[in-house]
Amino acid sequence: MNELVEALWYILPAYFANASPVVFKGKTSMDFGKNFSDGRRILGDGKTWRGFFGGLTVGILISLIQYYALPSYYGSFNLAFKLGFALSFGALLGDLVGSFIKRRANLPRGYPAIGLDQWGFLIAALLLGYPLKSLQTGQVLFLIVITPFIHWFANIFAYKMGWKSVPW
Ligand code: CTP
Ligand code: MG
Repeated sequence: MNELVEALWYILPAYFANASPVVFKGKTSMDFGKNFSDGRRILGDGKTWRGFFGGLTVGILISLIQYYALPSYYGSFNLAFKLGFALSFGALLGDLVGSFIKRRANLPRGYPAIGLDQWGFLIAALLLGYPLKSLQTGQVLFLIVITPFIHWFANIFAYKMGWKSVPW
């Protein structure tokens, strides 16, 4: 596999985990509506438990499909599953950290934070996936460059589908 294609193949569960909560969006927010010590919401209404577990499930399912499509890339089902979990969980966790930072900066739910929105989930996914299977430096740089474009494209798609009220 071409090394850039391999990088995209590797990160696919994280992309799906990050993009799918918008279709699952639940009612109960992950911070249960609670405020932080600064009087503002801990995470806000944009982060729900249903979205989180929906994203985690979709991300892991993608990694299992990837395993059956190309078992030699992972070596074992066990590694594919663990990597799928790490990449998906990392993507969702990075997104939560991003929302936490946005609320501390007093940005309302859904307000775009350039950089944080596109790279937060990616960096967290790469960090959690790294101990299980690593990419080369060039591949990581490629993902850092390409991910904002894929993120924007995915958000415009979700907006056109009527899943999101804003195209970012
Ligand atoms: N979503 C969810 N649960 C999550 C993540 C996302 O239910 N853990 C849903 C919410 O409906 C959210 C939408 O997916 O509004 C888009 O996600 P995102 O852009 O990450 O959230 P924002 O609404 O932009 O909120 P924030 O400002 O906190 O990033
Ligand atoms: Mg957003």
